[in-house]
Amino acid sequence: MATVNSNYRKLQAGYLFPEIGRRTRQFLADNPGVQVMRLGIGNTTEPLTPTIIRGLHEGVEVLAQVETYTGYGDEQGETALREALARRYKGYGAELDADEFFVSDGAKPDTANIQSIFGLDNVVAIQDPAYPVYVDSNVIAGRTGQGVNGQYEGLVYMPCTAENGFFPDLPQGKVDLIYLCSPNNPTGAVATHAQLKVFVDYALAHKAIIIYDSAYASFISDPSLPRSIYEIEGAKKCAIEINSFSKEGGFTGVRLGWAVVPKTVECENSEPGEIRRMWFRRQTTMFNGASNIVQKGGLAILSEAGQAECREVIGYYMRNARAIREGLEALGLTCFGGVNAPYIWLQTPGGMASWDFFDKLLREAHVVGTPGSGFGPRGEGYFRLSAFGHHADVLRAIESIQKNLKL
Ligand code: MLT
Repeated sequence: MATVNSNYRKLQAGYLFPEIGRRTRQFLADNPGVQVMRLGIGNTTEPLTPTIIRGLHEGVEVLAQVETYTGYGDEQGETALREALARRYKGYGAELDADEFFVSDGAKPDTANIQSIFGLDNVVAIQDPAYPVYVDSNVIAGRTGQGVNGQYEGLVYMPCTAENGFFPDLPQGKVDLIYLCSPNNPTGAVATHAQLKVFVDYALAHKAIIIYDSAYASFISDPSLPRSIYEIEGAKKCAIEINSFSKEGGFTGVRLGWAVVPKTVECENSEPGEIRRMWFRRQTTMFNGASNIVQKGGLAILSEAGQAECREVIGYYMRNARAIREGLEALGLTCFGGVNAPYIWLQTPGGMASWDFFDKLLREAHVVGTPGSGFGPRGEGYFRLSAFGHHADVLRAIESIQKNLKL
């Protein structure tokens, strides 16, 4: 007699972005002919740059000749790509070996799967609000109790509020797995070296593990802010970092990311190097490697020319971010983020519930955003707008908000 994984039944609602899609489709069905402007999901819109296209074409050409054709590759990712990633981290001041990098099909699966190498008895701490994958993957694994009022029993929520600059204080009591995301999705806040050091010191003292999601690191323009947790002394002993080419190189649909699992990472009962070996074992068992064509594209992103082109595109999205933030502030709305991150986090007017504001913004201005409560209880009363989009569409959306939103 087969049974289902009943942990799925604990999940409180549909995954956030499909729910937004569902409500938007319903609105369009009810209002035929209306054009909605989408600043909801952080989905790239600008085409791949010439260097990246060339890289992908080269990947195809290699497969077109019998002399160069390859089938399955190294599950951990092509050596050249892992070496290029190690060089990038060297630029951050972090010495990491190429075999501490694991190329994947994106940061989302890695952030969801990484928990599987840790025991079910680990106490998990997450920033509140947070990217929903950290919570849901731990619910599905069985590390939580039931959901009550938007929170799961057994999870430690670390409030990120305007008062603490959207970076959490240390959790009360001992926790074992700590998820941190910087630049933060959804708040757009970026952790400083000093803030990360507090968490690294905590993790070292408690043999805890930090799972650090840096998927938006390439949006940091302030040179004083860390782009990797390995810029913090001691982090190689307690942190796993996950990143992606999605937003940096426009690979949201192409799919390519990486995890860094240093050999020196340790927890309570691990042997030296064991955590890295376990992730290797997990990936070689359950993943056959990222597409070889796409990895050539990743290599092109990391090249000098690729980096210069990616900076241009990132600059384009950040001009959107500035336009959104300034446009909303001109209306008297309180906004955060959008400076070193592609997300603007705004306080809903009059403390309106965030799904109510979603409906109001859609109805009155025809703009789709993301309700803050979809990221956790502390997201209630907030709303996220994404800076990904064609510049003209973003300007149209802001103009429509300014003209039509009844405040
Ligand atoms: C977001 O909008 O939060 C992200 O684009 C979702 C993702 O990267 O999976």
